[in-house]
Amino acid sequence: RPARFTLDPAFTVGAVNPRLFGSFVEHLGRCVYTGVFEPGHPAADAEGLRQDVLDLVRELGVTAVRYPGGNFVSGYKWEDSVGPVEDRPRRLDLAWRSTETNRFGLSEYIAFLKKIGPRAEPMMAVNLGTRGVAEALELQEYANHPSGTALSDLRAEHGDKDPFGIRLWCLGNEMDGPWQTGHKTAQEYGRVAAETARAMRQIDPDVELVACGSSSQAMETFGAWEATVLQETYDLVDHISLHAYYEPHDGDVDSFLASAVDMESFIENVVATCDHVGARLKSKKRINLSFDEWNVWYMSRTEAQVSVLDWPEAPRILEDNYSVLDAVVFGSLLIALLRHADRVTVACLAQLVNVIAPIMTEPGGPAWRQTTFFPFSQASRYGRGEVLDVRVDSPTYDTAKYGEADLLHATAVRAEDGSVTVFAVNRSRTEALPLEVALGGLHLTEVVEHSALADADPDARNTLAEPERVVPHTVDGTALADGRLTAALEPLSWNVIRLR
Ligand code: AHR
Repeated sequence: RPARFTLDPAFTVGAVNPRLFGSFVEHLGRCVYTGVFEPGHPAADAEGLRQDVLDLVRELGVTAVRYPGGNFVSGYKWEDSVGPVEDRPRRLDLAWRSTETNRFGLSEYIAFLKKIGPRAEPMMAVNLGTRGVAEALELQEYANHPSGTALSDLRAEHGDKDPFGIRLWCLGNEMDGPWQTGHKTAQEYGRVAAETARAMRQIDPDVELVACGSSSQAMETFGAWEATVLQETYDLVDHISLHAYYEPHDGDVDSFLASAVDMESFIENVVATCDHVGARLKSKKRINLSFDEWNVWYMSRTEAQVSVLDWPEAPRILEDNYSVLDAVVFGSLLIALLRHADRVTVACLAQLVNVIAPIMTEPGGPAWRQTTFFPFSQASRYGRGEVLDVRVDSPTYDTAKYGEADLLHATAVRAEDGSVTVFAVNRSRTEALPLEVALGGLHLTEVVEHSALADADPDARNTLAEPERVVPHTVDGTALADGRLTAALEPLSWNVIRLR
């Protein structure tokens, strides 16, 4: 039987915040070095930024870019990363058993964002692992104070007269994780996050602050962590973070395909926890969600890779090469974020280049798009506007992890001009899924395009040798008549159906 849903302009979820299409650049592996930054590369500009990568970043459509970590931030000394490059120290990066040269630092990050274009916004993390309130304040003064103080004048002396204007700040990273340098209990972290937030607001009451939530829904402390941290920080922060990565376990592809079931329940459980704390505090304020790390990540391979490192510079680690199957799951994660756009107001795809990334590069060589590039760029381009409330009536399939799951996962976004884009995933590995959408009251008359990412070989990938093996294709036969859309979604496919 077909999968069905109804779209009605009277029933909406909320407006999409452009920050939903954020990404993440960490000093990790080759994300920075030989990724975004490679002086001497034929495509590098005078500042060492790769123009070929910048072109792809613009095409991807990223907005907020989180930096400099990740686990890296818990050892980060911001002052190592500014000033004359020849004076910057080399440091041990405990998080990734690597050597950090600091050739790329704060100023280069801001230059990189400016070159992406006006839509790119900084999202800076402060170190609350091995450092605290004082260093966060110093970084904020260096970055944002106009002039006339030691640190703002130092910035000008370093060549950046204009303040960086960083508005969005993360108060540490994954402080709930025992792997984090300077890991804390919820109570310990809640206190230091509150004091850091209070002090940062003394410099500038308009900063937007993200408190660390859980590193995944599976953490033992999940739920209690958020409640304790928010009890301490509720009036002082704007967002709480969520992180989630998905991979197939023991070859269980059917559960992997339904990963968004976990992501949606994670979001809903964090919303419930935020609102519960708000109710207890009798607060009218609403805390929003910053899903500032999400992706498909074959994490089980990473530990072995990292544990044998002997402090190299920019090692090849976490360079997952994504298949069509991975891209379909990835698209479904994007759908999950859009479906919760009322509360998820920041999201960062982890990461941007080379490290579990949509863009890959070869040192001295080309840059290319992974399979996951396409769902992200299409969602960022067409997923702007108001999310419509989509309640699917879909055939289901069995999964070991999540029980019965819908074969169809979908959302729809209505743009300002009234056009609508449906994003849909068919989770069936073998069968096409007929789709019927009733478009009551939307006054749509035409299918502009039905684009799909699917392949006879779900394991197909883009590689250095074959960088365009997988690209989206146009689907014929999708029709709109009498207020009803009909389409067939190929097995294991990501679909973008544009209507006007
Ligand atoms: O994105 C890779 C790593 O995943 C980040 O450094 C960390 O925050 C998370 O565990």
